[in-house]
Amino acid sequence: MNSFSSNANKTLQSNTFLGLIVGENVITLQRVNSTNEYLKSKLSNSTPYPEGTVIMAVEQYAGKGQAGNTWVSESGKNLTLSVLLNPSFLLPKEQFKLNIAISLAIMECLKPLLGESVRIKWPNDIYANNKKIGGVLIENVIRGSTWKHAIIGIALNVNQTSFDTKKTKACSLKQLLNEDFDLYHLLKLLCTAISTQYNILKKEGYPLQKERYKQHLFRFNIPSTFLIKDEQLIGTITDVDDEGKLVIDFDGHLTKFGIKEISFVI
Ligand code: BTN
Repeated sequence: MNSFSSNANKTLQSNTFLGLIVGENVITLQRVNSTNEYLKSKLSNSTPYPEGTVIMAVEQYAGKGQAGNTWVSESGKNLTLSVLLNPSFLLPKEQFKLNIAISLAIMECLKPLLGESVRIKWPNDIYANNKKIGGVLIENVIRGSTWKHAIIGIALNVNQTSFDTKKTKACSLKQLLNEDFDLYHLLKLLCTAISTQYNILKKEGYPLQKERYKQHLFRFNIPSTFLIKDEQLIGTITDVDDEGKLVIDFDGHLTKFGIKEISFVI
């Protein structure tokens, strides 16, 4: 039995990280298509999950990534989970504020372990030593003008040591630090960090969060090569606007880009 499966049992027994918004109700599934899909379908059947409920998978066989990609994770080695939040204090058009809070939470959770090498690659990939160590997929349920639910899908590569390097440069905590990590312990740290950042966001701490996000943004203020409509251009990230668009300076001309309009060439 690896550390994850023994700890999954622990999670089921205690089932809660008391006193945290996120993680008071942790449901561990042995095998599921996607924790985001599972949570979405439970919500559409009116399952009364409290805010902060965490659905965690030991094995996720059809994990979803950003931009319609799949997310592949070795069974029992990593954190693959979805968190239910009800950010009705934000307008649907303020979605990027939640993106920032979640990215910061993951970054703050990893920083004590990895130090300054942790970066947030716009909009919310988590990088360490210039490789992707985690990703976020937020799916929203909006009714009229109210933001009912946010399903925060989070993946963190922990104890996996080989990755398909064709698509993306990936890495894990174990590869970087040469040791195995207790997934249950990491989950608790992550839930604490998300609770903290979510509370800050609720208390109108967005301006400070945005500053910290920019301070930890991958290749911020560093000239970089970008791919834009099949053309490679050198520019410098100077800002992210409140809608989440990336602001790049090309020879003194500032241009804003949405998620599908630009990619890094590294
Ligand atoms: C990305 O492409 O970077 C985002 C990856 C998000 C993957 C996580 S794993 C848990 C949750 N369930 C899913 O199906 N996807 C997210």
